[in-house]
Formats: sequence, structure tokens, C-alpha cells
Amino acid sequence: MARRLKKLHIKTFGCQMNAYDSERMAEALQPAGYELTKSLGDADLVILNTCHIREKAAEKVYSELGRVRLTKEARKAHGHDQMVAVAGCVAQAEGHELIARAPVVDIVVGPQSLHRLADLVAEAQSTGERSVETEFPAEDKFAALPPRAQGKRQVSAFVTVQEGCDKFCTFCVVPYTRGAEYSRKPAEIVAEVERLAARGVREITLLGQNVNAYHGDGPDRAAWSLARLLQRLAEIPAIERLRFTTSHPHDMDDDLIALFGDEPKLMPYLHLPFQAGSDRILAAMNRKHTAADYEALIEQIRAARPDIALSTDIIVGFPGETDTDFEATLSLVRRVRFAQAFSFKYSARPGTPAADLDGQVPDSVKKERLAVLQTLLEDSRHDFDRATVGRRLPVLFEGKGRKTGQITGRSPYLQAVHVEGPDALIGYIAEVDISAAGPNSLTGVMKSGFEWREPVQAAV
Ligand code: 5AD
Ligand code: SF4
Repeated sequence: MARRLKKLHIKTFGCQMNAYDSERMAEALQPAGYELTKSLGDADLVILNTCHIREKAAEKVYSELGRVRLTKEARKAHGHDQMVAVAGCVAQAEGHELIARAPVVDIVVGPQSLHRLADLVAEAQSTGERSVETEFPAEDKFAALPPRAQGKRQVSAFVTVQEGCDKFCTFCVVPYTRGAEYSRKPAEIVAEVERLAARGVREITLLGQNVNAYHGDGPDRAAWSLARLLQRLAEIPAIERLRFTTSHPHDMDDDLIALFGDEPKLMPYLHLPFQAGSDRILAAMNRKHTAADYEALIEQIRAARPDIALSTDIIVGFPGETDTDFEATLSLVRRVRFAQAFSFKYSARPGTPAADLDGQVPDSVKKERLAVLQTLLEDSRHDFDRATVGRRLPVLFEGKGRKTGQITGRSPYLQAVHVEGPDALIGYIAEVDISAAGPNSLTGVMKSGFEWREPVQAAV
């Protein structure tokens, strides 16, 4: 008799690293007979993969758990169980508190213990006991996870290569929730990327909280930098595009910058948070760079790759931020001209040094500053997008568009591009003449007389 597949529902909050962890959790549970479902009500196992970076993170999780409790009870009324796990950074930060406050939760598992999830589920099922696993175990969770699953159609994939952070920006919880900086071994990463290539992936984004601090133990016993790792991955024929995120200005070394000019597979897009434009605030944030350092760096990067699309993170209303400080942020934004940006109101995170600083800025001021900043950033983004109109860009097609007959992909600058074209192009790169820039995407026309290249065969 065929074994009944059990259903797994994962809700992911926060960053791309959580999205990657969710994929790995789903894969780790596959051998135990779990397949993904979009429906919470159908799920035998629910995982909330949580984020703790900004305000009310824990409260959001508790209210989400309130909703989960209702489905769990409804299922119980029909004689079905539902197991509930909380993973990610809120799990790490709250630990036993989650079990105490939310009776619906069966398992709490921190980001460093994902490889234990299948065992924790099995244990909970056999003993009926609730468990909390938030250690930073000595074993390598990546080595302990099963290899990437085969068969899923995907053009672009994330691969976490580095976790944790030793920078201790005073506003940030990451060094506490994700722990000290850790780099995976190059050989392990190459094997993972080769497997992804073999299943049709054409673009890889390397992930890490501080990805350019990457320093993995190479097979030659040397410490590999991110630049060296990227060069090695560029040798994999089926991988046509490489990206990485998130970088810290302090760790942008010369080799990495030069690679933007030298390695055609490295896409001209860089996410490089600067957080604030005032040196006084940058020092209070413990950012280890000034506004002038940041601008000099941008100049060096643009010298290597003049057309690079720059993206950033910015915080407004850090404790002690005056109008003049905020003006310095606006002024830096005007000078750098970002293609993309993520901006946030400062939110005091318990346990971080900035939470105890004097001069906390009222929410109304933060709101006002954020609105002004976001208007400027939007203008900057539109300027960048408009400047690509009239250009011919290679687009990697990722899927069908919303309208029939349309397919959608990404430009080298990570802009979404929609064109009329055959589904058969999904997974391929084609030249597109960009004809218009909308609020969130570009539209274009496939270069006339276009013939697409045969796919490069993967090496494995
Ligand atoms: N308040 C507001 N924004 C924050 N970020 C991190 N911590 C905080 C905080 N306490 C932002 C930073 C970081 C991004 C991922 O989230 O800009 O780069
Ligand atoms: Fe947080 Fe990034 Fe600073 Fe690390 S470098 S502490 S992850 S903001």
C-alpha cells in the first residue's frame, strides 16, 4: 500500500536567507514523507519561519499563532492532528518563552538547528512532548542537511554561503540571533551549485548576512574570499549569472570590486547598505565607515563597472538623529543615485546597545523622514529604470507573465522585464529591446530575428 504523503505548510517571513532556510527545511522533511501545501488547513505540519529584525516581530508571530490555533482546533474536531513548529530568528530569540506563551506550538527550532528538524518532528510525534532547540551546535548544519532535491523547475536559486555577523551594528539583532560569522566550505558550495545547475538553475545568488566577509576553507587549505568563490562558480558552464547579497562596505575588497569589471557572469548589481549619511550617526551605529568612505568606495566600484546598479538599506530616526543628520542622508542619496533601496524607521530591538541610548526619536518624526526619503528613493529608482529605455538588454526569463502570451524575466540590473514571447524561452537568456519603464517593471520587445542559443549542458 502506498504511504500517504503528509502535508507541510511553511510560512516565511523576512529576508532571502529565511526563504533559503524554508526551502532546505522542506527538502529535509521530504524523506519523512512531507510534501508542500499552500493551504494551512490541509497541513499536518505547519512551520512559521520567522524574522526578528524589526519592530513587533515577536508580537506578529504570536498573532499568527492565534490564527494557526484556530485551524489546529478545526482539524482536531475532524480527527486530524496538526503539528506546529516555529523556526527562524524569533524562535532563537524567544526560545522557551514561545512554548510557555503559545500552547499551540509543539517545536521551537533556531536557524542553526534546522538539520535537526526531521528528528524533532519524529520525536514530538512519538513522545507527544514539546521541544525547544536553540543551541548553536558544533556540527555543520549544512553538511547534515540532505543535498538539494532534484526535479523542481527553477531558473534562479539562492545559496547561503555565510551566516551570522561579527560587526555588531548597535541597532541590529543579527549578531545575537544568528551568532558569530561562519562560512561554508567552497567544495560544499560548488557541489550544491552544480546540483542546482543540473536541475536547470541558471542564476545563483549567494546569500549571507555579511556575505562579502566570506572566508571559506578551500580544498587547497587556503582561505577563499568571496571573489575567489565567485570565480570558481563562474567556471560551471550552465551557471550564466551570479549575484550576492548582503555586503558590508568595510569588507568590499579590491578583488571583489575588480571582479565586477572582469567576470561577465557577475551581474552589475550590488546591494551595499550605508544606513545613514551623517558621520556622527554612523559612529553611534558602529558602522566602521564614514559617508566619505562610502562614496569613495562607490567611486571605485563604478570605475570597475560604470553601469552598475546600486542598492542600499537606510535607517531613519536612529537615536539622536537631528534634522541636519537626516539631511546628510538625503544628500548622500542624491549624490549616489541608487537603482533600488530599502528604507526603515529605526526600531529599538531589546538587547541591542542602541535601544538604551538617549534621544530616541518620536515615531511621528521617523514617519515624516521616512516619507521624504522614500519619495527621493522612488525618483532615483525611476531615473535608473528610465535610463534603460531604448537599450538592448539580455533578459533571463523566469516564468510566465500575468497576461497570456507574456513571459517575464530579469535584466542584469535585476529589473523585472515583461515581453511577448514563447514559454519555451523560460530558463534562457534573450536580448530584449527595452521600450518602456512602468512603476515596478520594464516592458520590452524581443530583438527581431532572434534565435535562442542551445542550452549549455550541465556538467553533472
Ligand atoms: N531598526 C530599523 N531597521 C533595522 N535594520 C536592521 N535592524 C534595524 C532596526 N533595529 C535594517 C538595516 C538592515 C536591514 C536588513 O534592516 O537597514 O540593513
Ligand atoms: Fe546587522 Fe548587517 Fe550590521 Fe551585521 S553588518 S550587525 S547583520 S546590520
